[in-house]
Amino acid sequence: MFDLILKNATLPDGRPGLDIACAHGRIAAVERDITAEARVIIDARGRLVSPPFVDPHFHMDATLSLGTPRMNVSGTLLEGIALWGELKPVQTVDDIIERALRYCDLAVAMGIGAIRSHVDVCDDDLKGVEALLEVRKQVAPYMDLQLVAFPQDGVFRDPTAEANLLRALDMGVDVVGGIPHFERTMQDGAASVTRLCEIAAERGLMVDMHCDESDDPMSRHVETLARETTRLGLEGRVTGSHLTSMHSMDNYYVSKLIPLMAEAGLHAIPNPLINIMLQGRHDTYPKRRGQTRVPELRAAGITVGFGSDCVMDPWYSLGRADMLDVASMGLHVGQMSSREDMAWCFEAVTTNSASIMGLEGYGLNTGDAANMVLLQANDPIEAIRLRATRLAVIRAGEVIARTPESLTTLDLPDRPQVLDPASYAPVSRT
Ligand code: FE2
Repeated sequence: MFDLILKNATLPDGRPGLDIACAHGRIAAVERDITAEARVIIDARGRLVSPPFVDPHFHMDATLSLGTPRMNVSGTLLEGIALWGELKPVQTVDDIIERALRYCDLAVAMGIGAIRSHVDVCDDDLKGVEALLEVRKQVAPYMDLQLVAFPQDGVFRDPTAEANLLRALDMGVDVVGGIPHFERTMQDGAASVTRLCEIAAERGLMVDMHCDESDDPMSRHVETLARETTRLGLEGRVTGSHLTSMHSMDNYYVSKLIPLMAEAGLHAIPNPLINIMLQGRHDTYPKRRGQTRVPELRAAGITVGFGSDCVMDPWYSLGRADMLDVASMGLHVGQMSSREDMAWCFEAVTTNSASIMGLEGYGLNTGDAANMVLLQANDPIEAIRLRATRLAVIRAGEVIARTPESLTTLDLPDRPQVLDPASYAPVSRT
């Protein structure tokens, strides 16, 4: 007797007609025509079943704070940082917990099973850290929440940031963050990369820095990040988030930089919705897109995951925890329109990001954690095209969220029908 069997699923790699049996929180079998009994049986009717979406870059301490205490009028990164600085002193630990839990509810419903959230440590009370450690505990049964100690105001520029970052790591924050392009000088930025990587090496932690989130082609801190990664033996444990300045860099320099990044085993996390919204703000026309060089990074063997970054906060007024929306924007901005490229964009919000976060047991093979999402789509490209409805979200072999199938009833003269958005064809039901 299994806990759950998902019948007739199509996997992201295209294999159709498979049954997935779950027992004791793990995947017990993936094969055709499993006839054993189960407490719960779901008929996928040939639709796509994926491991959960993974958001590798988010700010859960700021989410859902839109309009508090005011709106970002210019829409720029720098006004967002200033606005966040106004909100920080007036919000409470309970405020942050309440907003974060509301966001996690939304994220689970949208099939997200893991989030890496940066948490601002430039606050001597460490309210965000206290709040998100509590949230991490509360959501653990249904979501993996990984926290990054993020010195938003600059680990050197803010006089107490380094001490606060170390305290946050002592309290249990998982990953070392940074923001070298926001330090006072290029030299300070490079020195901050060195210091933060040394802290990570001393403590055996991963690194994920906001790096070169700028249109300035001379913002080259990723070069130092690659160098320090190699020097300290941190290969495979270090991520550069955003990397938007690479969009504006000289091609010759990039031809040297990308191999250095690959040599260091760096990972890259562009945040397509936010990058396209915030970058190029000082341009007239043409306006730069500001997304890092995704196809080129990928071609060099660098693991690239797409993050959502912000939902309804000082930097971004929109968003709804939809990683398919993130994938779609990354696809468009990167002009990744081949079938193979589009399918890869689905991996950028699932397997690639799981790999960057180091998630254990992620996947749809026997023995993996029984975490998955059933989508109203036939394949990954269609899922992106439709921002497919998450019909069922499964965690540890239990259904934890359901959304009704999206169908439209059309009452045209002589053409009454029910349409499935996935097929643009009438639905037949037995
Ligand atoms: Fe960010």
